[in-house]
This record gives sequence, structure tokens and C-alpha cells, in this order.
Amino acid sequence: MTKPNDKKQAFLDACMEKFDANSNGDHILTIHQLKEVASTFGMKYAPQWLVKNPANKVGKALFKLPALGEITKVHASRLVQAAEQYESPKTEKIDNTETKTEAAYVVSSLTGDIVPEKDPNFVSFGDYSSVKSIIASKKFYPIFITGLSGNGKTLGVTQACAEKKREMIRVNITIETDEDDLLGGYRLRDGQTVWQNGPVIEAMERGSVLLLDEIDLASNKIMCLQPILEGNGVFVKKINKFIKPKLGFTVVATANTKGKGSEDGQFIGTNVLNEAFLERFPITFEQSYPSVRIETKIISGMLETENVPDSAFAENLVNWADIIRKTYNEGGVDEIISTRRLVHIAKAYSIFKNKLKAVEVCTNRFDTDTKESFMDLYTKIDSGVNPEDLLEKTNDNSDDIEDDEDSQSVI
Ligand SMILES: Nc1ncnc2c1ncn2[C@@H]1O[C@H](COP(=O)(O)OP(=O)(O)OP(=O)(O)O)[C@@H](O)[C@H]1O
Ligand SMILES: [Mg+2]
Repeated sequence: MTKPNDKKQAFLDACMEKFDANSNGDHILTIHQLKEVASTFGMKYAPQWLVKNPANKVGKALFKLPALGEITKVHASRLVQAAEQYESPKTEKIDNTETKTEAAYVVSSLTGDIVPEKDPNFVSFGDYSSVKSIIASKKFYPIFITGLSGNGKTLGVTQACAEKKREMIRVNITIETDEDDLLGGYRLRDGQTVWQNGPVIEAMERGSVLLLDEIDLASNKIMCLQPILEGNGVFVKKINKFIKPKLGFTVVATANTKGKGSEDGQFIGTNVLNEAFLERFPITFEQSYPSVRIETKIISGMLETENVPDSAFAENLVNWADIIRKTYNEGGVDEIISTRRLVHIAKAYSIFKNKLKAVEVCTNRFDTDTKESFMDLYTKIDSGVNPEDLLEKTNDNSDDIEDDEDSQSVI
């Protein structure tokens, strides 16, 4: 019986024979040349094992013929072998030069320390200490954190892990996220098909905190997490292996909604999550924006970090955001200023050194009426700013243009 590698070698030989005279020393062929040879084997397309291997692609529609020793066996029996070798990842690469190298059939892309770094500007508030206690306990106790955008949900979990020196793996969920992304799948690596653990399996095996960020963007393809949220481990069908979570593994999910969708359209893309899925989170924390006192501390700290300390500016910004949030809650305005946006304004100020310009560029994203009302409110709160500051900015630009014109006329 012809072995798969014999067929591959026969194909390569035919390529060499037909096009060797045209190619350079590396035996680079175009896709058309490969197809031409393929047709002599009764195939319509160039072989997938050659063109789908990124190691062979050297340019647009250009492929390097692999040397004999680089041809690896990629067929069904490899998958069975991968499962068998799960316990002992070290194995030999098939290599006719007899040199033994390591090919990991179960691979982790995570190396080294995955404890998040401490953020010097972080200020704890709300349920942070409860989240921290759960993370410190190393108990399996899934948490669902819900709240409006940019109020520190993700940062809070990250900082709790940093403070408690707990490893954390963050996965940003989208509507496309599926079992392959979460649990793992077969990947092509160095010309070999290898099983690569997904973040969920990695977190289970390491005993890390798994942060499922923005879980409400998910489709029902995340239902594979169901048994994992019970804490008992999961049977991974593709490698025929049961993975038991190590001590310390737990799950934290964050979302802008409570998994019931967003009827007013504010959080487009959010989905209604399966009720049984939500039921597996024992507790939910509802995170609101920080109080005026806490938020002033955050923004003052940020201005200091950016080398533009100005506590009065921080206070004005926070009071401004507070009024907008109250109006938003009463239905008076459709947009809200998040803590994240205040941080953006602080950074813009450190660049432009103009408060009103910083507020303006960071509110430009809202529709004209909303933006004008936000700007108007800010000028009322901060008596130190003058709307003419913005005109000066325009004049500055026109000066620049004039300068440019002058210099052109000299040329
Ligand atoms: N407690 C805090 N201390 C310091 N900065 C904070 C704090 N909370 C929020 N911030 C600032 O706000 C930004 C946004 O926070 P984060 O990304 O955690 O928000 P989020 O609630 O996860 O938002 P989203 O729902 O959009 O994902 C942070 O990068 C940080 O600059
Ligand atoms: Mg977030």
C-alpha cells in the first residue's frame, strides 16, 4: 500500500523534475506550477499539506518545496497519538536525519509568570474587597460582575489577582467565541498538527483565575463551559481526556448587562444568555461608578502620573461626570461619562495642556447636541476655562498654515 509520505515525496519529485530548471536553489514554485503538477496526479488543486503549511509560504502565491525531512505525518492516526501522548508531552519528531528534537503534542502558549501587574493608579471601591476575598480564598466560586461600561470591572478583577499574587487568564468573549477558542484545538505548528490547550483548560490545569470578559457578547457556543462552571472538571472529547481543575481555579465573568440583553440598544451586540448558564454563577456584583470622592482620587492620581497634577481640575471633571450620570439615570440624556473617559481626558490634558480642548476632543465621539450640552455644562462648572481657549486653538492652526504658505512662497 502506498504510504501518505510516499505520495507526498512523489509529488515533490514531480515538481522538482518539471520545474527545477526554472526555480532557484530553494525550489520555489508558484501556485499555478503546483496546480500543473497536481493535475498530472489527477488532482484539481495543489495539495493542502503543502500550501496550507505557513512554513512553506514564501510570498504571494509562492511556495517553497519542503525538504524530505520536513514532511511530517499529518493524518488521523496523529490525533489518536496526540491523545495518548497527552501525559508526556516530550516525543520525537519524525526526521530522517536521525536528529531527535522535541515536538510538543499538547502545547501551552503560556510561559512564565501570568500574575497581573499592580496598577499604581488603582483605587479600590465598591465590591473590590469581596472579589479579592473570593480570589484569595482559592475556592471555586464563580462571580458575575455587571455594570455600565468603563467603571473598573475588568481592572478590579485584575488588581485583586495582582494584589493576591494569583495567576489570571483573561479571555475576551465575542459572538464568535466557541469551544475551540475556549477549550483548545488542533493547530499547525512547525509543520506538525499539535493539540493546543485553550485558555479555559490552561486556567484549570494551572489553578488560575479565569476572567471571561464581556461574557454577554457570547452566543450559545459557550455552553461548553456549563460543566466547568460546576467546578467538577470537563471531559475534552477531542483529546479523550478528563481535565480536573487544580486548587485555585475559579471563574469571574464581567458584563455590561445581566445577560438579559440590552433592550434600549445601548449595548449593541450583547445577547440573552442561557438561564441555566447564568444560574451557575452563585453571586453577582452590581458595579456602579465610583463615588465622587473615590473618582476624584483616581483622576487626581492619573493627572499626577501624567505629570500635570491639578486636583481642582480632577474635582471639576468628576463633578461634571456626576451631574451627567444623574441626568442619565433620570432619562435626561442618552450618553454617560465613564471613569474611563475621565482618564482619557486627563491624558489628553497632559498632551494638549488645555483643559477645554481635552474635554472637547474626548467628547467629540458623542452626537453634536450631546457634545455641545456636555461642553456647555463643563464651562459652567469650571469657571477657570474660557470657551475662547478653543478659538485660540483654531487661530494657532491658522498661524501654522500662514507660516507654511510663507515658507512656500520663499521657495
Ligand atoms: N478603581 C479604579 N482605579 C483606577 N482607575 C480606574 C478604576 N476603575 C476604572 N478605572 C479607569 O477606568 C478604565 C476602565 O476600566 P475597566 O476597563 O476596568 O472598565 P470596565 O468596567 O471593565 O469597562 P467595560 O465594561 O467597557 O469593559 C481603567 O483602564 C482605568 O483607567
Ligand atoms: Mg471590561
